[in-house]
Amino acid sequence: MVNAAPAGTPSSVLGPFHIEGAPELPNGGDLWRGQVGEPLVVSGRVVDQKGAPAAGTVLVLWQNAGNGLYAQQDPSQAPTNYHARLTVADDGTFSFTTVRPVSYKVPDDGPAGDMLRVLGRDAWRPAHLHMIVQAPGHAPLITEFFPEDDEHLDGDAVFGVRAGLVLPFSKVTDRTALPANLVARDTLPMPVCAARLDLTLPPG
Ligand SMILES: [Fe+2]
Repeated sequence: MVNAAPAGTPSSVLGPFHIEGAPELPNGGDLWRGQVGEPLVVSGRVVDQKGAPAAGTVLVLWQNAGNGLYAQQDPSQAPTNYHARLTVADDGTFSFTTVRPVSYKVPDDGPAGDMLRVLGRDAWRPAHLHMIVQAPGHAPLITEFFPEDDEHLDGDAVFGVRAGLVLPFSKVTDRTALPANLVARDTLPMPVCAARLDLTLPPG
């Protein structure tokens, strides 16, 4: 937090589950593909400090699956399940379908768990979607986003929550209200959970 940029979307923790070389996901692509859990449509726009679209920005995405586990923790998942790299459109917009992330406990069977118990804290992390925003001319922005209705927002074991990273998750009942480029637009079960995610780059 001491080293965070003075403006733009706040940064947050990287965590242990980021991988290099995640597969490319087309803008509008589908990471969910009918897997266990509730589908989530994320759409938004990336702009710079002047509000101009940040063409060429790459979003590196990773999160846990609907069973609460990251691919690296779960042999039943493909190694890059829910890991992706998405390049935003020239107007800065992007969309994708994923699974609604699930709150989970950090491992608490070792000294970290002992420390949390001594401090009277719990081991839960609120559900979150990890992201690295890689924009030309900018340092990478490492951050994560949380649904506003998560019961663990005020007790995050790793202190990752910032007010500017908490998003309303809504229910969309009208398929035609979903982004036009969404690959799963015509096949998603309705109503579907959706989140709007607008990003402002830090100063270059
Ligand atoms: Fe995480």
